[in-house]
Amino acid sequence: MYADLKDKVVLITGAAGNLGSAVARYFHSAGSKLALVDQKKDHFQRTFGSEIPAEWLLCEADITQKDSVTTVVAEAVNKFGRIDVLINIAGGYRGGSSVYETGEDIWDFMMNLNARSVFLVSGAVAKVMIEKGNGGRIISIGAKPGLEGTKNHTAYSASKAAVFRLTDSMAKELKPHGINVNSVIPSTIDTPQNREASPDADFKKWVAPESLAGVLAFLASDASRDISGAHIPVYGGSM
Ligand SMILES: NC(=O)c1ccc[n+]([C@@H]2O[C@H](COP(=O)([O-])OP(=O)(O)OC[C@H]3O[C@@H](n4cnc5c(N)ncnc54)[C@H](OP(=O)(O)O)[C@@H]3O)[C@@H](O)[C@H]2O)c1
Repeated sequence: MYADLKDKVVLITGAAGNLGSAVARYFHSAGSKLALVDQKKDHFQRTFGSEIPAEWLLCEADITQKDSVTTVVAEAVNKFGRIDVLINIAGGYRGGSSVYETGEDIWDFMMNLNARSVFLVSGAVAKVMIEKGNGGRIISIGAKPGLEGTKNHTAYSASKAAVFRLTDSMAKELKPHGINVNSVIPSTIDTPQNREASPDADFKKWVAPESLAGVLAFLASDASRDISGAHIPVYGGSM
């Protein structure tokens, strides 16, 4: 645990998902103030149930839509007065076919969910961080195919590559404002959905959401104050 995360205002997208919920729990244990965003409010009930403390701000938003993003960022600032840390977790995967068999619907869905969302939420939060003048942290989730495209994942690879280039550019733009911008590159995360899709895999080689949460906490903490523009591989037992 990083002591300086106590009372930090942390906005997490995709917070009711596999990784997002582990990250929310980690930062809650560290004493952070949480603004949690997901696309349906009932996702929070499904994931956290009676665990939800009164002080969490739970926001429903489609973060591929600018108006929706503007509203949730304003809600967070109204409740907490500032945002110290943004963790862009919402994202997903569609694919499995070659470029000539992939429809524009898949391309648009991947680019909107994985790239446009990071662009919109980071822009809105960076504006608030700059206005408040306290610096901040923006951390996003990439994926290995974003480093080097892989067969039958054209749209997914391109959308995650965009996350890395957004991270590089934002790190340079926001450095004068004391805002560090980094991304992590998980290999396969140990989720129920992945276990169901690959029942014969060696799950021990996958990365536990709680382990990734620890890496994200480091990047949100003062311990990483000299790191910006980095893409941190978190590959567990698979290289
Ligand atoms: N799982 C892996 O093995 C793996 C590997 C590498 C990278 N990653 C990346 O890690 C991140 C988290 O993955 P995960 O497995 O935790 O995903 P997940 O369990 O599907 O969680 C994502 C959450 O984001 C929500 N969401 C989707 N679209 C949204 C939108 N437009 N606006 C707001 N919220 C939205 C989802 O809601 P719905 O359930 O309604 O869609 C879900 O609650 C993603 O960026 C993913 O690409 C995952």
